[in-house]
Amino acid sequence: MSDVDAIVAQALAEFESAKDGVSLENVKARFLGKSGLVTDLLKQLGKLPAEQRREAGSRINDAKGRIEQALEDRRSRLREEELERKLRDESIDVTQPGRGQGRGALHPITLVRSRIEVLFRSLGFDVAEGPEIESDFYNFTALNMPENHPARSMHDTFYVEGQHHLLRTHTSPIQIHYMLRNPPPIRVLAPGRVYRSDSDATHSPMFHQVEGLWIDEHASFSDLKGVVIEFLEKFFERTDLEVRFRPSFFPFTEPSAEIDMSFGQGWLEIGGCGMVHPNVLRHGNVDVSRYQGFAFGMGIDRLAMLRYGVDDLRLFFQNDLRFLRQFA
Ligand code: DAH
Repeated sequence: MSDVDAIVAQALAEFESAKDGVSLENVKARFLGKSGLVTDLLKQLGKLPAEQRREAGSRINDAKGRIEQALEDRRSRLREEELERKLRDESIDVTQPGRGQGRGALHPITLVRSRIEVLFRSLGFDVAEGPEIESDFYNFTALNMPENHPARSMHDTFYVEGQHHLLRTHTSPIQIHYMLRNPPPIRVLAPGRVYRSDSDATHSPMFHQVEGLWIDEHASFSDLKGVVIEFLEKFFERTDLEVRFRPSFFPFTEPSAEIDMSFGQGWLEIGGCGMVHPNVLRHGNVDVSRYQGFAFGMGIDRLAMLRYGVDDLRLFFQNDLRFLRQFA
């Protein structure tokens, strides 16, 4: 049984050279594990003559105790070393200069939207907003699209809780809200987010429109053309700009036209317009025997794409700073 002391010495030495918790536990297994050296000694006890067993047993148990104690000491020292290492490695040098914070900037769509607002204000327009969750009445019915009107299917609508509320599919419902609150004459511009279930390089399920409404005793289609052309020329600051009013259909205007524009290479549709339908004026409590007017709706994102030469609409909504920084 003289090897007991040798085993203790060996265990202590190996604990000492274990460099981390995992290797320490491996060493422990070799001595105290199920087939470890100390366990083996205990198993051999049975083979000893009875008179030696007692003394040998207590020596082995004593050795086991010393090994366990040494193991516990080594464990706690390794934990301390680990903690010290972390404190050293992860310490913060408070004397280093700060990393700096980037200054925020306006989103390109916001820039374009305020540019549009400034230009229309200079033409005497008020600026108004409306709710993004609309009732079916404001989004469709009041705009001369009764239930089952085929024009409703032109909109891929996101409905909210049943069929009576929806994410507005256009900014035109703001026309009704505004007319109900403001007696004519009216000149109002209404920008905002609109929603349709549609997504590709030129369509996003959320996009932006700007609505214009002008109601007066003498507001004609040529006034409409004058206002739109004046705006586009100021907005794009280009002299080669061409604008075309292409006959079209909208339930809320009669006659109606599509607004197309060109910088010399092909026509691009940027919105719709027309003379406000009398049914729409009536829903806005406007006296149709005295007043008439025109309206238009344009895509803010389309205008932004054209102004900045962006070919994929989705870039505006991905929040990639490499893209957005170019407008800051
Ligand atoms: N609301 C139409 C749309 O989203 C655009 C529009 C067309 C607005 C003609 C108008 C208008 O005010 O007169 O497709």
